[in-house]
Amino acid sequence: MEANAPKRKETRKSLRIKVISMGNAEVGKSCIIKRYCEKRFVPKYLATIGIDYGVTKVQLRDREIKVNIFDMAGHPFFYEVRNEFYKDTQGVILVYDVGQKESFDALDAWLAEMKQELGPHGNMENVVFVVCANKIDSTKHRSVDESEGRLWAESRGFLYFETSAQTGEGINEMFQTFYSAIIDLCDNGGKRPPSSMGVGFTKEQADAIRRIRNSKDSWDMLGVKPGATRDEVNKAYRKLAVLLHPDKCVAPGSEDAFKAVVNARTALLKNIK
Ligand code: GTP
Ligand code: MG
Repeated sequence: MEANAPKRKETRKSLRIKVISMGNAEVGKSCIIKRYCEKRFVPKYLATIGIDYGVTKVQLRDREIKVNIFDMAGHPFFYEVRNEFYKDTQGVILVYDVGQKESFDALDAWLAEMKQELGPHGNMENVVFVVCANKIDSTKHRSVDESEGRLWAESRGFLYFETSAQTGEGINEMFQTFYSAIIDLCDNGGKRPPSSMGVGFTKEQADAIRRIRNSKDSWDMLGVKPGATRDEVNKAYRKLAVLLHPDKCVAPGSEDAFKAVVNARTALLKNIK
């Protein structure tokens, strides 16, 4: 009997991964991790001193994952402490506060710091990044809207989630998707699978949306010099309309950008003879 009993299905090999958190001080990195690991929220700000390290076990897709989390201090003062922790990382949780534009603008500098510490042979292509637009519960004025954050993240091939460590919104979903992407990365020999790279829109589209969003007037929005002719305005308009038409472009914010371009053209043509 024993000999013929079906063998128990072997569970697949367990994984050991390293994850780090990055982002300005006070954006909520430690609280996001605490919310997921301890299911609680601490309203009082306790700045991380240098690095906080923790290990947690996660069961996902028939796999046991041992996650080593290095929660970094965001304050510039701790640069010397955190700089040695960037290497051998499979996943990065990149956090900003939706009510604090500087923390969003600082994301590029965080990527640059990591790149610099990894050196010329470091490879950021094969790291899973998840961007957390945090504190969405806050009643404070929201200064970075969803499409702006999503565009920044997705145009780089990063995951994007709207989160609140306070209410827990988006936190479990974010970690599940993040860990799942890391499993795919490990199963693919440490390389990001091609399927996770395609974002469905081009860099040209993302750049155009960003430029339109930051333009100071209608001329600037269409990318023509003040005083341009009807023909020049129409030509610039047609180019952007083709690039950003909502039927063709799936980049976050493309619909608003398209509308803004239509309005800019109408406003300019009214005043050009
Ligand atoms: P450093 O360790 O200094 O880099 O900061 P941190 O990014 O780890 O921030 P931390 O998690 O300590 O949170 C900073 C402050 O923001 C604390 O007072 C938290 O209670 C608060 N906070 C964090 N997440 C949220 C959130 O989702 N909503 C609200 N309303 N407050 C939050
Ligand atoms: Mg912290």
